[in-house]
Amino acid sequence: MHSLIIFASGAGSNAAAIIAYFKQTGKAKVSLIVSNKADAGVLDIAKKEEIPFLIINKQTLNQTLIIEQLSDVKPFLVVLAGFMWKMPEAIVHAFPGKIINIHPALLPGYGGKGMYGHHVHHAVVAAREKESGITIHYVNEHYDEGNIILQARCPVQPGDSPDDLASRIHKLEHFYYPRTIEYLLNNTSA
Ligand code: GRF
Repeated sequence: MHSLIIFASGAGSNAAAIIAYFKQTGKAKVSLIVSNKADAGVLDIAKKEEIPFLIINKQTLNQTLIIEQLSDVKPFLVVLAGFMWKMPEAIVHAFPGKIINIHPALLPGYGGKGMYGHHVHHAVVAAREKESGITIHYVNEHYDEGNIILQARCPVQPGDSPDDLASRIHKLEHFYYPRTIEYLLNNTSA
């Protein structure tokens, strides 16, 4: 059984979708959840699902130790799902080709530093874009610049608020993120 590690800072709806999907298919399991926020909703999900979790903190982060803790799980993938830090370089280098992220827009548009969460949807609506979407990509040392694995699109309707767009995007994320992970499980030699 392949192991997945999820990094998340927020509510964790993507984490929940991934956990539920693989509980059903049995092809992988989420073995560890890592968060930089002690009160993140994703930790309630970890507790409910009885998945081990780690809370990390920028000031006290021991990179060697965390790399060891992550390596112990022998992850097939490290999945960033609403993780608000730039991934420390040492971690990126320790898991080459194994860290993926989901971005709530069509990269390279609306990406880069400061473009996360609601800022993205505000900017897309303010620019009167006709469509937006999601990008699932590999993570490298630069924000939102790793190779793209999948993009999926949705319309931006006239009169959409950033919240309307966010919920349409969330639906795309919940459908495609688990299935993209499954695609990688089936098509990558681990
Ligand atoms: C998602 O929209 C994701 O694309 C972005 O942060 C959000 C996380 O939502 N990076 P959730 O915590 O999974 O509900």
